[in-house]
Amino acid sequence: MARSKDGGRYRMSATPAIVMAEIFAVAAITLMLVSVLHFRGGFSLKSNNVVRLFNAHLVFMLFGPIIFTGQAIMAFKTVPGRRKVRKIVHMLFNLLGIFLGALGLLAIFRFYKQSGWSPNLHSLHSWTGIGVMGLYVIQFFLGFTFFLFPGAKKNMRTDMKPWHAFLGLTIFILAIFTSGTGLIERFRFLQLLKGREALLLNFTGIAIVLFGLSVVLSVILP
Ligand code: HEM
Repeated sequence: MARSKDGGRYRMSATPAIVMAEIFAVAAITLMLVSVLHFRGGFSLKSNNVVRLFNAHLVFMLFGPIIFTGQAIMAFKTVPGRRKVRKIVHMLFNLLGIFLGALGLLAIFRFYKQSGWSPNLHSLHSWTGIGVMGLYVIQFFLGFTFFLFPGAKKNMRTDMKPWHAFLGLTIFILAIFTSGTGLIERFRFLQLLKGREALLLNFTGIAIVLFGLSVVLSVILP
């Protein structure tokens, strides 16, 4: 059992946290898809309809830097088999996270270009969003070269590991924060004040935050 600093124990394994994370992931995905498909006409990366481009940003960002990054973090506890296999699954989930994040950015940049809605990169959301994606790419590149190919010497890998874990969690938590400010931007854009769609968006935010907390807890617990 993992011990806290004062010697106390958590008296719990990571399994319940992982189960909760998967439940909140399904909840967040379902709520987001209902909001985009039922209320706002779907999503597309190649559309003349700017609303569908905008919606594609939400869907790709939820799946990429949030859901798949969370799965990558949990892979060391969810994937059975040798450590090497877990490392490769961790890398593949992160690759998917970056790829979908890049598609999400492409969608929102196309949206801005076609709609001329406001200047690019004006909001706190867009600043932290660019920061998250930049750090994510750097982290992936460093992690890949140090831990997979060609791989650094053992003592270097040992020194690097806690920093890799710290930066990885930082990026994930920043992505959760960014989705919160993104939902506020969404409210502003749609000029929502109350009603079913507003409720749906708030519950989506809550599901994303609870997913984030469960993933972090799964890392802390043994
Ligand atoms: C539920 C999740 C999300 C929602 C609802 C959302 C919503 C939005 C909205 C409404 C905009 C346009 C307004 C603005 O520029 O601030 C936007 C832009 C942007 N988003 Fe998100 N977003 C989400 C997740 C993310 C994530 C996780 C990232 C990055 C990791 C991100 C990165 C960006 C960037 C960089 C822009 C600015 C594009 C530009 O200014 O040209 N978003 N998002």
